[in-house]
Amino acid sequence: MSVPLPRLIASSRHAPTLRDAVAAVRRRPVDLLLAGPRGQVGGALRRLLAREAAGIAARTGVALRLRAAFDRRGMAQDPAGLDPFPAAAAFAPRHPRDWADLVEQTVDHGTPTMLVDCTASESLADEYAGLLAVGIGVAGANKRAGAGSLARWTQLQELAANGGAPWRYETTVGAALPVLSTLRALRLRGERILAIEGVLSGSLSYVLSRLHEGASFSGSVAEARAKGYTEPDPREDLAARDLARKIVILAREAGVPVEADDVAIEPLVDPVAWSPDAPDGATDFRWRVRADDAEARGRRLVAVASWDVDGARVAVRDVPQDSPLARVRAGENLLRIRTEFHDALPLLIGGPGAGPEVTAAGVLGDILSASRALLARRGGG
Ligand SMILES: NC(=O)c1ccc[n+]([C@@H]2O[C@H](COP(=O)([O-])OP(=O)(O)OC[C@H]3O[C@@H](n4cnc5c(N)ncnc54)[C@H](OP(=O)(O)O)[C@@H]3O)[C@@H](O)[C@H]2O)c1
Repeated sequence: MSVPLPRLIASSRHAPTLRDAVAAVRRRPVDLLLAGPRGQVGGALRRLLAREAAGIAARTGVALRLRAAFDRRGMAQDPAGLDPFPAAAAFAPRHPRDWADLVEQTVDHGTPTMLVDCTASESLADEYAGLLAVGIGVAGANKRAGAGSLARWTQLQELAANGGAPWRYETTVGAALPVLSTLRALRLRGERILAIEGVLSGSLSYVLSRLHEGASFSGSVAEARAKGYTEPDPREDLAARDLARKIVILAREAGVPVEADDVAIEPLVDPVAWSPDAPDGATDFRWRVRADDAEARGRRLVAVASWDVDGARVAVRDVPQDSPLARVRAGENLLRIRTEFHDALPLLIGGPGAGPEVTAAGVLGDILSASRALLARRGGG
């Protein structure tokens, strides 16, 4: 889905002070190459950059500069920095060499630079290794590299660790919730992670909660689709593949080398036999029986992604109605992490887990953390 290109929003929200003037002298530019600027998350990120860039520069000395913005339709660029809302005419049509040229110019320019990936593109994820190898950082909400082949993931982690160009992807699970950073912190201090389980799919939470409110399964899916909670083809959501990607990312962050194929997935429908345009009564009946049966036992159906010593799984489970997992509302995520020191009472991280604005806020957090790493790499942090 794409958002229109609005006019420039004024970025300065406070009168300059002496502190600002001192900070201006210390300011270090960091260039951003934004992929997907006209998408939901990319659009929200541009709005945030327009609003916050001046304040961030004053507070941190990091002067974020939009060096280029591109999608598959067009690319806009300016070495001196683009307006966060370049006019549509600034987007020149793509040509086969423009990406390679941009990377080459960026390396020659020498300013700390990162790709900000607000797409779901596999081909862009394939570029990460080449970028990290030449010192260009990567931050973004694209799950493809985090959940793709373990060989590529390991290569990216090694490139980031050895060369110092950062790779940040906190928002790929739980939007702006500090989920991956928490797992990383636990591992760094040597705390053994025993199990992870979470309600991490807004679309599936919506469908199952409407089912408990009495709606039919196919009616719930149609509603979720109409509200924009699902992919254009809701079978993508019902096949639970996106949820499987999230548990792969989480398990890897917990130190477990899983591949996507290792996840045992229980899809909600057979994506070949079931169609949102011709829902069948048998599927509706099966889900009605399941929901009523759970309720009769004081339980509730929840789509849970989990990992423990027995492996990674994605399935609809019935959990007690007073379980924190059962109380997650549409749009929220909840993650439960059991460790050697948080065993009987696991760590809980919960809150808004999707939505372009909150995801963009999380991406901005990753941009700042990656900026600091890029500047430190050059002795300027
Ligand atoms: N929306 C959310 O609440 C949310 C939350 C967490 C994470 N995410 C993740 O954030 C990413 C973006 O989500 P979104 O909702 O913003 O999607 P979206 O609205 O579909 O935007 C994606 C944009 O990426 C562009 N794009 C696709 N392939 C590209 C490529 N190879 N190179 C450059 N640009 C490309 C598309 O433009 P063209 O088609 O013109 O190329 C499109 O404008 C996804 O990975 C999603 O899973 C989203």
